[in-house]
Amino acid sequence: MNLQNQSLLQTGLFIDNNWLTTGSEFPVLNPATGELITKVSDASEADCYTAVEAASAAFKTWSATTAKERSSVLKKWFNLIIQNTSDLALLLTTEQGKPLAEAKGEIQYGASFIEWNAEECRRTYGEVIPTPAGNKRLLTIKQPIGVVAAITPWNFPVAMITRKIAPAIAAGCTVVLKPAEDTPLSALALAQLAKEAGLPAGVLNVLPTSKSSVIGKILTTHPDIKKLSFTGSTEVGKILMEQCSSTVKRLSLELGGNAPVIIFDDADINVAVEGTLASKYRNAGQTCVCANRIYVQRNIYPLFIEKYQSAVAALKVGNGTDNDVKIGPLINEEGLNKVKRLLFDATEKGAEILLGGKSHFAGELFFEPTIITNCSTEMRLSKEEIFGPVSSVFIFDTEEEVIGMANATEYGLAAYFFSQNINRIWSVAEQLEYGMIGINEGLISHAEAPFGGVKESGFGKEGSFYGIEEYLETKYLCFGNI
Ligand code: SIN
Repeated sequence: MNLQNQSLLQTGLFIDNNWLTTGSEFPVLNPATGELITKVSDASEADCYTAVEAASAAFKTWSATTAKERSSVLKKWFNLIIQNTSDLALLLTTEQGKPLAEAKGEIQYGASFIEWNAEECRRTYGEVIPTPAGNKRLLTIKQPIGVVAAITPWNFPVAMITRKIAPAIAAGCTVVLKPAEDTPLSALALAQLAKEAGLPAGVLNVLPTSKSSVIGKILTTHPDIKKLSFTGSTEVGKILMEQCSSTVKRLSLELGGNAPVIIFDDADINVAVEGTLASKYRNAGQTCVCANRIYVQRNIYPLFIEKYQSAVAALKVGNGTDNDVKIGPLINEEGLNKVKRLLFDATEKGAEILLGGKSHFAGELFFEPTIITNCSTEMRLSKEEIFGPVSSVFIFDTEEEVIGMANATEYGLAAYFFSQNINRIWSVAEQLEYGMIGINEGLISHAEAPFGGVKESGFGKEGSFYGIEEYLETKYLCFGNI
């Protein structure tokens, strides 16, 4: 790969600020071409124990640094990431597939969590509590939890990592990170820049591995790890949660979604088309907050669908490094097959394909931007995450009906709706059982805002001033005999 800064292409394990190679390796493939990018060292159980030891040793000194010292290292790390944006974006597109412009956006979005937490860690105040007894004084202090395990997904190989490890490190915790098997290179490049920024040995350790469940088991049961932060499927989240119970670890879980997008008849149609498109087709439909079910009110359906179809038809599909490409490949065959299965089930049950509906000639893992209409609640895609470039459109008549349909899922991550009626906006926002609501907006994620779900989409917030709290203990001090 033609990087300006070749030191960003690392293939070893990152433990105690050393690059280690192991006896075994696994391949990292470019999903756009199927070509081998490189092979990466495969962390074993023994490597995982070594990384936890390094993180535990580093916690003693890192947790004793001042917030200002930690902030200064994080700011240097942020600046290095921004300086290396082009290389990091190319690395990301090559291993993950998203268009280069989106990858650049992700590098900036990912870096923003480091910048935000570099600022936020200087404001993790405790409290003085008005005393209930004249001879006592009560107060709280905030302390870092300890060693944190982070397990991250392939769909945002940079931002899902920084969203966890920046607040952890800012709080004074140390980290063992297991990146996704499909996309370890971005994680290793971040580690290289963290080292250059002066992050002390052992504060961040990165374990690429093909043995996810074996390493996951250690990270969730090791007594020296005090917290797990996981982004991934609800199915895996439940297993990890169960495993964490043996040592009663703190947990943050950002799990699956099934986002409804509701377009009311009082919406600005152009805003609704643009917002739905942005939510649905970002990263080829492979985000947890992607539009999964699109509900359109009957009387504006013909107008909306006409405009939406022409916007989706204009999306260029291809290798993310090519100019103007908006839709890259799906991550792997498993992802592609899932999209095909859900589409087959929907058409068997009466859905009609308005646009797309099949593999795209750009390559094995490409799928056409697709719209299906006449969707109903019997179809699997009304209950399961599609994670691909397929818009499933439903028609509704009343507000009450659509709220019922939108909430009829075990998931509760993100929901979106479009309306210009202020009374409706308040009422619908309050009734939707989701952790995040986009109102006349399809892109809602920011370092300044709390990202997180309810119901089986998990718990815990990432980003915002809540994000760093997830890595802090509140300790109560009671001074007597004053
Ligand atoms: C996700 O897909 O889990 C993250 C999307 C985002 O941060 O916007």
